[in-house]
Amino acid sequence: MNDALGGIQTALVLGGTSELALATLAALDLRPGARVVLAGRDEQAMGGIAVPTSSGGKAEVSTLAWDALHASSGPALIAAAAERLGDIDLVLVAAGILGEQARAETDVEHAVDILCTNLVGVAAAVLPAAERLRAQGHGTIIVFSSVAGLRGRRANYVYGASKAGLDALAEGVQSSLAGSGAHLLVVRPGFVRGKMTDGMESAPFATTPEAVGAAVADAVRKGREAVHVPRLLGPVFAGFRLLPRPVFRRLPG
Ligand SMILES: NC(=O)c1ccc[n+]([C@@H]2O[C@H](COP(=O)([O-])OP(=O)(O)OC[C@H]3O[C@@H](n4cnc5c(N)ncnc54)[C@H](OP(=O)(O)O)[C@@H]3O)[C@@H](O)[C@H]2O)c1
Repeated sequence: MNDALGGIQTALVLGGTSELALATLAALDLRPGARVVLAGRDEQAMGGIAVPTSSGGKAEVSTLAWDALHASSGPALIAAAAERLGDIDLVLVAAGILGEQARAETDVEHAVDILCTNLVGVAAAVLPAAERLRAQGHGTIIVFSSVAGLRGRRANYVYGASKAGLDALAEGVQSSLAGSGAHLLVVRPGFVRGKMTDGMESAPFATTPEAVGAAVADAVRKGREAVHVPRLLGPVFAGFRLLPRPVFRRLPG
């Protein structure tokens, strides 16, 4: 459990190879001797990942096989992580795929994969994770949503729909945890130059995994409930939401 100084001693990552999750863990300065469970599809890749701690050492990392497309495995995953870690100080929810919008419009299976990975599969793990943290009476869940979920855009509305659903779920879980001692932070990055967007043309306000990690760590320390990265995207998207649809439609991208 969190030590007296509030340091993180145990963490579970859903989407264990996620660039944003690993940048966040590095920025959070885990306590020396911290234990981390990376859950995901590629156990070989996860097995080679080192997670730094505040002492300059490395956390004790282990892995669990988990595929978000097998949504019913969510509760068993959380139970297995709790068995290994005991109390879970931090659950980082970073599994997701961007998919291809053009393909998703004609290939329904692809659209379903995006929706089932980013929303259904993730929700099926977030709900039992919240239950676990509520019972512990402490801990933080960090959910990687996206500004794409704030308004349906021509360029990425299937992905956007999955993130809109996840965002609503996360906000609801946040409310359900109020007063329990556990917290949930919703993270809404814009375009991040990294693995997920490799080969894509950069978008306005593009950022880096390291900047996302630093912003998330700062938000955790300050006990915030939501963070946009970069921060300016908060007011920008608040403005987008007020634009009449015909005007919004004419915006590039
Ligand atoms: N990068 C961006 O521009 C950006 C912007 C806004 C929001 N986000 C969100 O932030 C989160 C992290 O993104 P990232 O940039 O760190 O991307 P990433 O490096 O590609 O990480 C995505 C993670 O999701 C995992 N994953 C994909 N499908 C899965 C499945 N069926 N079951 C279990 N795990 C699965 C991947 O595992 P594998 O190694 O097996 O593929 C990987 O660990 C995502 O939810 C993403 O939507 C990203």
